[in-house]
Amino acid sequence: MSQCPFAYSAPLGQLFINLASISRLAMTAATCSNTPMDRDEIRAMRRSYGELGLSESDANPNPITQFEIWLTAAAENPYVVEANAMVLGTSADNQPKARTVLLKEVSENGFVFYSNYNSDKGKEISQNQNVSLTFPWFPMERQVIVLGRATKVSNAESADYFATRPWSSQIGAWASNQSEVIASRESLQKSWDEIAAKYPEGPDDLEGSAVPLPPSWGGFCVVPHSIEFWQGRYSRLHDRLRYTLDENKKWQLTRLAP
Ligand SMILES: Cc1cc2nc3c(=O)[nH]c(=O)nc-3n(C[C@H](O)[C@H](O)[C@H](O)COP(=O)(O)O)c2cc1C
Repeated sequence: MSQCPFAYSAPLGQLFINLASISRLAMTAATCSNTPMDRDEIRAMRRSYGELGLSESDANPNPITQFEIWLTAAAENPYVVEANAMVLGTSADNQPKARTVLLKEVSENGFVFYSNYNSDKGKEISQNQNVSLTFPWFPMERQVIVLGRATKVSNAESADYFATRPWSSQIGAWASNQSEVIASRESLQKSWDEIAAKYPEGPDDLEGSAVPLPPSWGGFCVVPHSIEFWQGRYSRLHDRLRYTLDENKKWQLTRLAP
């Protein structure tokens, strides 16, 4: 019998489980043969969302505080994998692109992630600073969408964060010209080996590392002007609360149709 990689991916102890998700589990198991899902099976994939709502009175007046409350809950939920993973949307030359990056800091200043400035996303942001960030916390029936402008953080801030990264990741940042076409996996490994030989691993690779910050690597801070919180509810009557900055730089809260 062939091994089904999905068979145990959604344990029955799941916090937000309901009847519909049990049938979904059964359906997942049923799809673990070698035959591809047909159209009707895909159409039948839906869950009934739950009890937990988000009301105007419960929502914190400050969207960053509200975000931190939800991020903490997501990080504590064992069914959310990588709670700080967010989908970064960019748009340049009339071509949108989305990919996952990791949130490394959030404050009143914005949402910070780190990357290669010469990567596709780096080039796209240099053309168009307007970006989106989507946090897809499916097991909690929650989603947050941030719209804002991305700016580079200072070199000092990037260097501070870079120094906290594991040595192998620091070497990786030097070795990979992110988003460029490369000849082979071997050429990437060769580049990594050369950099590793140049900056050998010290005894305490996590602190006081001697690997310098690569010139093309650093942080972006997304300064938000709109933050929407989505909570799944019964009968597709989901809660959508959106904070937007008004002309006086005050956050205004509105409810959107689901
Ligand atoms: C869970 C996850 C986390 C990731 N985190 C980052 C990150 O923090 N920074 C980054 O540059 N790429 C990260 N990546 C890789 C990106 O999704 C992407 O492949 C890479 O940044 C190149 O994107 P680009 O060619 O559009 O610039 C992550 C991927 C996944 C799946």
